[in-house]
Amino acid sequence: MRIVPFGLLKSRTLTLLELLVLAVGLAAMTAMTMPDLSERARAASSIALWCCLALYLCELLIKAWQQAGARAKYLRSSAGIIDLAAVVPVPLALLLGVPANIAWLLAGLWILKLATLVPGLAMLGRVIALEARALASVIVIFLTILVLSGVALHALEGPLQPRQFGSLPLSLWWAVTTLSSTGYGDAVPMTFLGRLIAGLVMISGLGVFGLWTGILATGFAAEHRRRDFIRNWELVTQVPFLKNLDPPAVIELTRLLRRLDLAEKTIVVRRGRPGDCMYFIASGEVEVKIEPHPVRLGAGAFFGEMALLTGAARTANVVTTQPTTLLALEVADFHTLTAQHPELARAVAAEAARRTGGATPHVAHAHAADDKRASR
Ligand code: CMP
Repeated sequence: MRIVPFGLLKSRTLTLLELLVLAVGLAAMTAMTMPDLSERARAASSIALWCCLALYLCELLIKAWQQAGARAKYLRSSAGIIDLAAVVPVPLALLLGVPANIAWLLAGLWILKLATLVPGLAMLGRVIALEARALASVIVIFLTILVLSGVALHALEGPLQPRQFGSLPLSLWWAVTTLSSTGYGDAVPMTFLGRLIAGLVMISGLGVFGLWTGILATGFAAEHRRRDFIRNWELVTQVPFLKNLDPPAVIELTRLLRRLDLAEKTIVVRRGRPGDCMYFIASGEVEVKIEPHPVRLGAGAFFGEMALLTGAARTANVVTTQPTTLLALEVADFHTLTAQHPELARAVAAEAARRTGGATPHVAHAHAADDKRASR
């Protein structure tokens, strides 16, 4: 029988269980630091801490045992180091004679487990790596303002306020709190020039942090777009109708498609409503509620094209019959794409005509595209 440790499984229940263990462990560690805690509560916290430690030890051992061929690699990986950091420091500190109340503070390292549970953090790491140059230039600006303002304030205010600005470290401390807009108010320049510099530092601080935020936000958005593109690409290649398009059209389409993960019995299209999208079925199934016999469409098929082709209202309700993944193409993107790729327009129109029993819907953009090609 293959044993799967809870740290390796990423099902929702197990992730919640891991979070629960972590929350209990950290709560117990916090409780142990409270001097007026009752003896019973202290004993319960201690038991909870030992139980968490035992669980983390089991997790580490099972993971190491499972990775028989690549044990060293696992222990050197960030996940392995975090698992070791959860298990080794507390017992080591206790063995070295560190008092229990201090040794258990090392259980604070358990918070690193969160990094392995939240995929967004891995993404943050990637964004920081990709935007390293831009972020480094912001850090350089930050350090430049910090050092220059620290030196200036030390020279200007030092003789007047030796307790606040008498040394460079003191002035630099003022510069950090001012630049980060924290402004404790423990050191305030008195000279006119000192205040002028302080004002400039505050404004620069806002700019520096704005830049930093902007770089990270754009990096995140770009990374999201990249991931969506890869995910959509994989889905597009599962739709035979799209697979047959020429590569530039597939790339363009992949950028435009929006993925929808729908539960069973979701109404995707309502009869009589104006058409805003057409849909490709990446996986699952939908039922087109037409009389007398509803039609079922499975993975690879598309629907919702008629209202886009004719500009008329939706002709039928379309409902998912099971969990389904759709790729939605907005009406404006549909028209742009079909104008550029008439073969796509023709294929969609042909299928729509087959569905309506041969009556070809009026395909404004397919004709327009053909006309455009003819006039070239
Ligand atoms: P639309 O009219 O935009 O919205 C309802 C959709 O149901 C329609 O586009 C078609 O994609 C689909 N549909 C309508 N009639 C049929 C049919 N006979 N066979 C398969 N699909 C259909």
